[in-house]
Amino acid sequence: MTQAEFPASSEGLVLDVPTAILQRRSIKSFKAQAIEPETLRSLLELTVAAPSSYNLQDWRIVIIQDEAQKAELAKSAYNQQQVLQAPVTFVFAADPNAWKGDLTPIYQQGIQRGVWTPETVEYFKMAIPKFQMSLGERTREYALKNAMIAATHLVLAAEGLGLSTCFMNGWIEDDVKRVIGAENEPDLAIAVVVPVGYEAESRGNPGRLPFAYNVCVDRIGNPYQG
Ligand SMILES: Cc1cc2nc3c(=O)[nH]c(=O)nc-3n(C[C@H](O)[C@H](O)[C@H](O)COP(=O)(O)O)c2cc1C
Repeated sequence: MTQAEFPASSEGLVLDVPTAILQRRSIKSFKAQAIEPETLRSLLELTVAAPSSYNLQDWRIVIIQDEAQKAELAKSAYNQQQVLQAPVTFVFAADPNAWKGDLTPIYQQGIQRGVWTPETVEYFKMAIPKFQMSLGERTREYALKNAMIAATHLVLAAEGLGLSTCFMNGWIEDDVKRVIGAENEPDLAIAVVVPVGYEAESRGNPGRLPFAYNVCVDRIGNPYQG
């Protein structure tokens, strides 16, 4: 993918990845300004470009734009205003049962693109159920990992295109599920909620611990000193 395939931000910029990573802040106040449809589409393309275990793509992404839906979602999120203000909020859900469904479209794409062989697909047909069944109750945790990786792609892509975001964990899962119409899907898990829009505030970086606190070499307890 080239930079030219994506719309530039309102300042005419598309940031490089290190700049987007370092510049991103959790923004809690957004302008009413809408996200242009082609920018929203690009955000979705960049989000689902995320990798997932066995390429399962077992995330379920719901984009909330309707004002009444936003109000309901904000209520589910302890009335956090960013959900009300942002023009679009992404709800990242994870389907721990996706691997039990029809994976044919995934296999077909891999083959059509010349990336997977029929033998690869036969291997996956055996390996995926074997691996997932070995997980037991951790299928939820594993599906959540994939959804969080996709959400991280969204957040950095948004920053790169001149938008701002806020990862949000502060919500009641059953309430969020009701808002997105998933109240009858007991296994569907909510991973994270991410409002996206144009920032109405600038926030400072609260900082990060020195590596010695939480980066180790070879084993836990052997701090990285570099
Ligand atoms: C998984 C996750 C959940 C978060 N949940 C919330 C939230 O519900 N509400 C909020 O205002 N900020 C939330 N934050 C933002 C953090 O407070 C913020 O990332 C942290 O203070 C560091 O600031 P920075 O993102 O600007 O670097 C969350 C961040 C992460 C990664």
